[in-house]
Amino acid sequence: MKKNIVFAIIASISLTGCGPSLRTAQEKRIDERVDSVMELMTLDEKIGQMVLYSSDWDVTGPSLKKGYMDEIRKGNCGNIFNAYTAAYTRKLQKIAVEESRLHIPLLFGYDVIHGQKTIFPISLGESASWDLAAIEKSARVSATEAAASGINWTFAPMCDISVDPRWGRVSEGAGEDPYLGSKIAAARVHGFQGDNLADSLTILACVKHFAAYGAPLAGRDYNTVDMSRRVFLDTYLPPYKAAIDAGAMSVMSSFNELDGVPATGSRYLLTDVLRDQLGFKGFVVTDYTSINEMVNHGVADNDADAGLLAIKAGVDMDMQGDVYAKYLKKSLNEGLIPMKDIYDAVHRILYVKFMLGLFDDPYRYCSESREKRELYAPEHLAAALDMAQKSMVLLKNDNKTLPLVKGEKIAVIGELANSKRDLLGSWIAAGDGNYLQSILEELKNYNGDANTIYAEGCKKMGDDRSGFAAAIAAARRADKIVLVIGESWDWSGEAASRSNIDMPGVQTELLEKLKALNKPIVVVLMNGRPLTLTKENELADAMLEAWYPGTMGGKAVTNVLFGQYNPSGKLTMTFPRNVGQIPIFYYEKNSGRPIYLKDPKYKSRYIDCPNDPLFPFGYGLSYTTFAYSDISLSTTDLTEKGELKASVNVTNTGNAAGEEVVQCYVRDLVGSITRPVKELKGFEKIALKVGESKVVTFTITPDMLAFHRLDMTYGTEPGDYKLFIGGNSRDLKETKFKLD
Ligand code: GLC
Repeated sequence: MKKNIVFAIIASISLTGCGPSLRTAQEKRIDERVDSVMELMTLDEKIGQMVLYSSDWDVTGPSLKKGYMDEIRKGNCGNIFNAYTAAYTRKLQKIAVEESRLHIPLLFGYDVIHGQKTIFPISLGESASWDLAAIEKSARVSATEAAASGINWTFAPMCDISVDPRWGRVSEGAGEDPYLGSKIAAARVHGFQGDNLADSLTILACVKHFAAYGAPLAGRDYNTVDMSRRVFLDTYLPPYKAAIDAGAMSVMSSFNELDGVPATGSRYLLTDVLRDQLGFKGFVVTDYTSINEMVNHGVADNDADAGLLAIKAGVDMDMQGDVYAKYLKKSLNEGLIPMKDIYDAVHRILYVKFMLGLFDDPYRYCSESREKRELYAPEHLAAALDMAQKSMVLLKNDNKTLPLVKGEKIAVIGELANSKRDLLGSWIAAGDGNYLQSILEELKNYNGDANTIYAEGCKKMGDDRSGFAAAIAAARRADKIVLVIGESWDWSGEAASRSNIDMPGVQTELLEKLKALNKPIVVVLMNGRPLTLTKENELADAMLEAWYPGTMGGKAVTNVLFGQYNPSGKLTMTFPRNVGQIPIFYYEKNSGRPIYLKDPKYKSRYIDCPNDPLFPFGYGLSYTTFAYSDISLSTTDLTEKGELKASVNVTNTGNAAGEEVVQCYVRDLVGSITRPVKELKGFEKIALKVGESKVVTFTITPDMLAFHRLDMTYGTEPGDYKLFIGGNSRDLKETKFKLD
């Protein structure tokens, strides 16, 4: 009887999903419904909603909670992560909905970062496509397959800007640029959440890792982050803001400290900035035991004190830490926190569960027939192939070594050419390496066994050179060599920082041996971060950055190498010449002694290396070439309320149809503070047939030039500006204008 009444109350006041655009009216209605549920809840049940435990289906951190099913049954755990499949989530949901006292449905979270079953390229690879529609599509497909597998919450998008490729988690992000990172963050949120969270094929997005996790000292994961307030607000905050503006309804607090305060205990970050400045209305979940870790940080004596810091900062849900479960009630009873803190946290969590439609139908994500239909659906695999092709970056192509010609005898060499698991990269959710075809298999499929000879040569790691001879023998029998080298998939991602970012093992030595054969060598790279490729770049005739291209990666590499797809990717992180140049990024400051000064000595330089990177931000070649006209401006005077249009005519001057990412940068020449030598303010990816031209126009408005000025107010400053347009951040046409 009680169950029916409670459920009836909840169900009767549930709502049909409406898009966020109606949220204002709907907001009040949901609030009333949440309040009605909360009136029925005991304090323990309220705190239970603030608890998130991992199931034992996947391990993504250092601890596991035993007996989580019992905790669900007792109402002590309202949220589960690392559990999936329609059947298993139905089993757990059933415990919550039919065996707990109040039958409140569970959230099921999972790291669906670049795919659930159909795996897309790693996020850094996707960002190199500069194709926002394809990136949104990737998130949409990931959400569809996740939702079909019982998951209603993904711990994505990762919005951490980073300029340090030693940090392994650059693989999960969108590179170094705030403008591009913001556009990509919004696209991913739209892809995951759609325009209606109550739709059973959309899932809750989670903006992570808030905040500035991507700037650890020395590139070492979890390490201290220390930066000026201005750099945080102008460089690192924008992508998180863009994701929240796009409607993301959960945020994950990060492991790192910022300005001496761990993010998970920072009221500045989680309340002042996130809620008061950005207007975030969803709930905040911690990263994995990051409340407990504040004891290690040295800002709390014990877990109970850490829990106090977290709840006062604005943390609503404790991921795996068991701190809220164990100590929140005691802190309340001791008068250390007001009931309002708990009430507001639970309200925000239940609010989102209502938005997801979980009270309408808690099993809406648990259909096994839908799961069968959606996983690996042909249209999903097609989208993954499209994105994989678009993510690849052609770094070098001397003497038109590429594209290969079908029927050419090629020697394919390297462990990674024959690896399936490495194609998927890190954070692969339910991805399955056995399902896919390796690069070698796809090359053979296309070019024929007889024309495609394989020798491993060496492993991706280690110093075993015993395979060199066989590789050299195979290469002798071929017209061209395709050497696939890079990092093992687990050499990037979480807890995978590197102190040097050279090619691992003896792979480059093998390249040197093969070079001695004087045959054209194509190097295909599989890596989760920029690597220092100075030697490889000297030795290779052509070099293709393939990242970890996902389930369809083998076919994508084949299509690019044989010219079925003309590579169009552009780097979204700078590739340094050596690790000593790090941090290195395109939007640097000029300094008082810039490198271009005439003085041979007294200027900002290295005595053993150029300042410029091996490959700059925005760089990528094509099998064709593009010519840019000079820039024409609609005006050279941009008024406070006006706009300026900057146009170029781009022509395909080569002999293949291709795509070009036209980029627009601006420089504020004189400010109340020093300003970057250039900042990306627009881009457009265009497709041109041979000989075709297109006028590309960028609109610049004053608000795009705003920054935190000397007095920390946010706004613009009148003066002279330069404007640049080109196919990367180095080779640019330039002009100038004034802001009144
Ligand atoms: C991990 C990661 C975070 C992930 C979470 C849940 O430690 O830092 O990105 O979403 O735990 O797996």
